Amino acid sequence: MKIVLKQVNLLNPEQKLNLKCDLFIEDGVIRKIGDLKPEDLKSSKVYEFENKYCVPGFVDMHVHLREPGREDEETVVTGCNSAAAGGFTAVASMPNTNPDTDSAEIVRFIKEKAKDHLVDVFPIAAASLGRKGEALAPMYELYEAGAVGFSDDGVAIKSSLVLRHAMEYAKMFDAPIIEHCEDESLADGVMNESVTSTILGLPAIPNVAEDLIVIRDIMLAEFTGAKVHIAHISSKNAVELVRQAKKKGINVTAEVTPHHFTLTDETVKTFDTNYKMNPPLRTRADVDAMIVGLKDGTIDCIASDHAPHSIEEKEMEFIYAPNGIIGLETTLGIALSDLVHKKHLTIEQLVEKLSINPRKILNIPQVIIKEGEIANLTFFDPEQIWTVDITKFKSKSKNSPFDKRLLTGKSVAVINKKKMYFEDKFFDI
Ligand code: DOR
Repeated sequence: MKIVLKQVNLLNPEQKLNLKCDLFIEDGVIRKIGDLKPEDLKSSKVYEFENKYCVPGFVDMHVHLREPGREDEETVVTGCNSAAAGGFTAVASMPNTNPDTDSAEIVRFIKEKAKDHLVDVFPIAAASLGRKGEALAPMYELYEAGAVGFSDDGVAIKSSLVLRHAMEYAKMFDAPIIEHCEDESLADGVMNESVTSTILGLPAIPNVAEDLIVIRDIMLAEFTGAKVHIAHISSKNAVELVRQAKKKGINVTAEVTPHHFTLTDETVKTFDTNYKMNPPLRTRADVDAMIVGLKDGTIDCIASDHAPHSIEEKEMEFIYAPNGIIGLETTLGIALSDLVHKKHLTIEQLVEKLSINPRKILNIPQVIIKEGEIANLTFFDPEQIWTVDITKFKSKSKNSPFDKRLLTGKSVAVINKKKMYFEDKFFDI
């Protein structure tokens, strides 16, 4: 099949590419970049993509697919459908499945489930058995089965000794340790510790619970020379710790979620459990620090922490509800609305945070937009105004605090593995 995307803005900061022209794709491969003649268009399906951007396929490096174990909340396939709808051609899946992703069988099972999907799934395996932080998972076996990183996400790697060993192993194959930074003994709460938690009388988690693990991990990364990636950073001081560590040349990177760069803990006053997540929403000063960190490059990536939960479980009293919200279908719209349109980031920087940097951190080959290369592309319209409607989500779960929000900027199509997703449908190209 031949397709032509007319007058699209091709953008890839990694290649210093910024060009408005036609793009001709045949059998999933980029055949021609440049304005096409009318006869070239004859046997092709033509898409009028003027004012749309075409960029290397976006990667969401922090997604919970819930399979195996909670297929009522999400499966590998429904999570991938949600990713495609949100503009992603790849996701990294977190290991807090049931059973945990701590064996090569589970890594292979997840990869097998995703193999025919447009969206690539890169499993992140548990660093410790059962994510208990007591004994190392079989890291090399997991790596050979396809794991691209190691994390006990949901919790921090409990023992510093286990973390040290995990780092030493991960370094041998250049994989990152992806840390959920939270000191368990300080984190016995359901929201951020602040004036708001005092007013609401809810048990709370102070920023320092995050900062302590960030500093521990930075010090151990310096000691071992391994790569550490700080997942869902949320505290102001943690951003500063990462900034200083980068200045010293320590191998540390960080990601932030759309909820942590837009929402504050004041939202918890509604007692809506879609404002309950881990780490918790913090204060305005923390949110502002996330934006500064994104701008100056301290924070490398934007990742959704897509965490599906069933309606029955989420609709409980605030203290009992599980942590987490879905995000695959809103991340791009929020990033464009709140970062690009508010002039905090350029579109080039956004592409770095959603495509180039996650690939660098996870050692996934970069996508090149060039004749002869496989088409792995995201197309988005930065000006499309739309209203979030959870009933239209492809995700099996609906737990989003962004329902009914007006956003500016939306994914239009994705292409990968000789498949295209456009106007709610997948088809082979
Ligand atoms: O809010 C969260 N939800 N934070 C986590 O670390 C885990 C996640 C989940 O799996 O639901």
